Amino acid sequence: MNHYIITGASRGLGKALAEALLEEDEQNCVIGVSRHSTITHERYRHQPLDFSDIAGVEHNLHKVFGPLEDAQKLVLVNNAGVMGEIGYIGNSQNEHYEYVFDVNVIVPAMFMNLFLQSYQHRQNCQKMIVNISSGAGQKPKDGWAAYCASKAALDMLSQTAQLEQEKLGTGVQVFSVAPGIIDTEMQEQIREASVEQFSSVQQFRDYKTQGALASPEEAAQKIIRLMKEPQIARGVVCSVRDF
Ligand SMILES: NC(=O)c1ccc[n+]([C@@H]2O[C@H](COP(=O)([O-])OP(=O)(O)OC[C@H]3O[C@@H](n4cnc5c(N)ncnc54)[C@H](OP(=O)(O)O)[C@@H]3O)[C@@H](O)[C@H]2O)c1
Repeated sequence: MNHYIITGASRGLGKALAEALLEEDEQNCVIGVSRHSTITHERYRHQPLDFSDIAGVEHNLHKVFGPLEDAQKLVLVNNAGVMGEIGYIGNSQNEHYEYVFDVNVIVPAMFMNLFLQSYQHRQNCQKMIVNISSGAGQKPKDGWAAYCASKAALDMLSQTAQLEQEKLGTGVQVFSVAPGIIDTEMQEQIREASVEQFSSVQQFRDYKTQGALASPEEAAQKIIRLMKEPQIARGVVCSVRDF
């Protein structure tokens, strides 16, 4: 069987990815991790976790990574992510930084750690980690400091993990992929910001009215293509725009 562990599978890109994988191959099983459960399928298992509750994650994380002894393919998709409050540094709640880093960096790092501990030496099995990053990890945007910094950290975590796996010779492949601009609740939140909070907000409103946003299903197909043909990526840190 092919086992996919997908965080944030309850809506947006993660849900589209989980549904497409379940649909396309009877060998595909999905373990979805998020606060809410919105998928019912015989090959889907939901593990409830709130990534802003680090103690709760530490206590329950082992439940995600079972023996999966029948695996021919094991893939971790760190997809759950939050923008947090949009606004300038100097005008934010301190808790905002902790929240964004917990969900976007600390918990994904814990997932990578446990995935590798559990499966990196598994033989005769394709092993892959796909971290869903953002172009914002490479390019600063005013009002998005915590989000940009968190995605930059995810990119570097991914590059370091790939380097280590190469030194260990495990064959694990790691990617940090920017999925493009997708029509999800995260984009709704961005469009609701004021110009004072985020100077380019009008550009993001225009993307919506001009129909320039990808659907979650379209973005999911590009991520699935990366999983099947990893050679299309230009490096560990990559973008669906290059595929
Ligand atoms: N949309 C875009 O244009 C865009 C662009 C670049 C990158 N991305 C990245 O793509 C990924 C998916 O984004 P999206 O647009 O699909 O977002 P979304 O529609 O807002 O969905 C976010 C997902 O993350 C989960 N999540 C949020 N907070 C969580 C928490 N505290 N604990 C556990 N899970 C939590 C949510 O599940 P629950 O609410 O059920 O917990 C949900 O399934 C993110 O990493 C995002 O940064 C998106």
